[in-house]
Amino acid sequence: MEILHVSAECYPVAKAGGLGDVAGALPLYLNEAGHLAKLVMPMYRTKYLYSHSWDIVHKGYTNLGNRWFEFTVIKERTNELGFDLYLLDINGLLDREKVYGYDDDTERFTAFQIAVLDWVTAWQHQPDIVHVHDHHTALIPFMMGNCYKYVSLRHIPTVITIHNAEYQGWMGWDKSIYIPPWDMWNWGRLDWNNTINPLASGIKCASRVTTVSPNYLEELKTMSNGLEALFEYEKGKCVGILNGIDSNVWDPQTDKYITHHYSVNDFEAGKAKNKMELCERFNLDFQKPLISFIGRLVGEKGADVLPSVIGDSFWHIGRRMNFLVLGSGNHHTERELERMLEQASGDYAVYIGYNEALSHLMYAGSDFLLMPSRVEPCGLNQLYSMRYGTVPMVRRTGGLKDTVIDYEDEGGYGICYNHTSTGDISQGVFRAVELYRTKKKLNANRETMMKLDFDWKTSVQKYIEVYEQLIK
Ligand code: ADP
Ligand code: GLC
Repeated sequence: MEILHVSAECYPVAKAGGLGDVAGALPLYLNEAGHLAKLVMPMYRTKYLYSHSWDIVHKGYTNLGNRWFEFTVIKERTNELGFDLYLLDINGLLDREKVYGYDDDTERFTAFQIAVLDWVTAWQHQPDIVHVHDHHTALIPFMMGNCYKYVSLRHIPTVITIHNAEYQGWMGWDKSIYIPPWDMWNWGRLDWNNTINPLASGIKCASRVTTVSPNYLEELKTMSNGLEALFEYEKGKCVGILNGIDSNVWDPQTDKYITHHYSVNDFEAGKAKNKMELCERFNLDFQKPLISFIGRLVGEKGADVLPSVIGDSFWHIGRRMNFLVLGSGNHHTERELERMLEQASGDYAVYIGYNEALSHLMYAGSDFLLMPSRVEPCGLNQLYSMRYGTVPMVRRTGGLKDTVIDYEDEGGYGICYNHTSTGDISQGVFRAVELYRTKKKLNANRETMMKLDFDWKTSVQKYIEVYEQLIK
C-alpha cells in the first residue's frame, strides 16, 4: 500500500510536541513493515532544512480565496529518515522558523492543505490512502470529497488521527472563501456550532478516525471540548491505537544525546552516572530522589500546579526530594516556576525553554517523572521514561491510564493518582520518596518497565489493519 501522511510536524525536521515524534516514526515503521509511506509537511525554516540536500519535485500555482500563490515541493535526497520526506514551501506563509503561534495560522495551514492536494492531483498515479493528523490537516478529507477541483481524488480513502482534540482550528464562516469551490449544500460537513470546525469536519468526512490511545477515545465521548456528541455519533468508524516509541531514537543503550549508556542489565550504575551529571549541572543533591517534569507548561499538562506541589511537598514531607522542571509555555507559569527558585534552590531547578538533549538526559538521569496531566491523549513522556527505567508518576487519564499500572497493583511499576490537585500529587510525591528508600522494590520496578514493549512495530500493525479494511 502507498500511504501519504500529511502533518504539521515531523521529528527531526520540526517538532513542537508528541505529534512530531509520531509523524517521524509511523511512516518509517510502515515502510519497515513492507509498505510505501511518505510524508509531506510545511517547509519551515529549520536547521534540518539547511543541513540537508533537496531535489525540487514540483512547482505549482494556486489560490487561497483571492490570494494567488506559488508553491514548491522539495524532497530530501538521501531518504535519511527511512521514508520519502517532502517539504512544501509557500513564500510569505510557511517560510518561518516556528511551527505554530502566528496570527495567520489559519491562512498558513489552509493554504498548505490546498497546495498538498493540488500537488497530489498532479501525480501520475495515486496513493492508496491519505492519512492526516490533527486539525492543521483536517480539512483535507472534506476537500478531497467535495471540492470540484479534486474530483479525481474523491475515491481515495482518508484516515484522520486525533492527537489532541482540545485544539480544533475553528475559523469563521467568512473564511469559507479560502476553500476551493464546492457544493454549498454540503456546508454541514464543515460546520460545528456555526463556525467552520476543521477537526469536526475531519471526523465527519474521513473514512476512519483514530485516536492515539483506546482510553482517550472513550473519554472523548464525554469530554472533548464540545465534540462529545460527534464522537458518540461517529463511534462506528473510530478506533483507539496506542502510539509506539521509536526505539532507534529512544534507547538508553544508544541514545546519541547522552554520554553514559546503559541497558536493563546495568541500569543502576548507568542511571546513577546520568543523575550525577544532571545534579552537577543544576546544583542538586545526588542522594535525594530526583523528580522531573518535562513538557509544555500549559493547563492540559497540569503545569500550573507544579509550584504548589513543590511548595507543599517541601512543607509536608520535608526537603527529602529534588525537583527539576524543563518546559516552556504559559508565561505566568514560567514566572511562578522561576520564582520558586528563591525559596527552594539547592533542591529545585528549572530550565525554561525547549531542549531536546536535556530532555534525553532527564529521562535517563531522573528517578521519577511527574505527569499530572488534565488531558493526555496518549503521552509519550511516560513511555520514554519507562524505557529509561524512570518511574512515571501519572494522573489516571487518557493514554496514561492505558500504559501505567500503579506499583501496588498486580504487575505494576508506576505511581498513579486520580486528580490534578496539589493534595493528590503531593501524596504521589510522598509515595515516590518511600519507594526510593526501598531500593530493591524500586529496582524491580525499573527492570519491569525497561522490559515493557511499547515499540512501534506492534502499533503499526493496527494502522495497517485500518488501511487494509479501507482498500478492500
Ligand atoms: P504533547 O505532544 O502533548 O506535548 P507528548 O507526551 O506526546 O505531549 O510529547 C511531548 C514530546 O515533546 C516528548 O518527546 C517530550 O520529550 C518533548 N518535550 C516537551 N517539552 C519539551 C521541552 N521543553 N524540551 C524538550 N523536549 C520537550
Ligand atoms: C498530542 C497529545 C499527546 C500525544 C501526542 C502524540 O500532542 O497531547 O498526549 O502523545 O499528541 O500522539
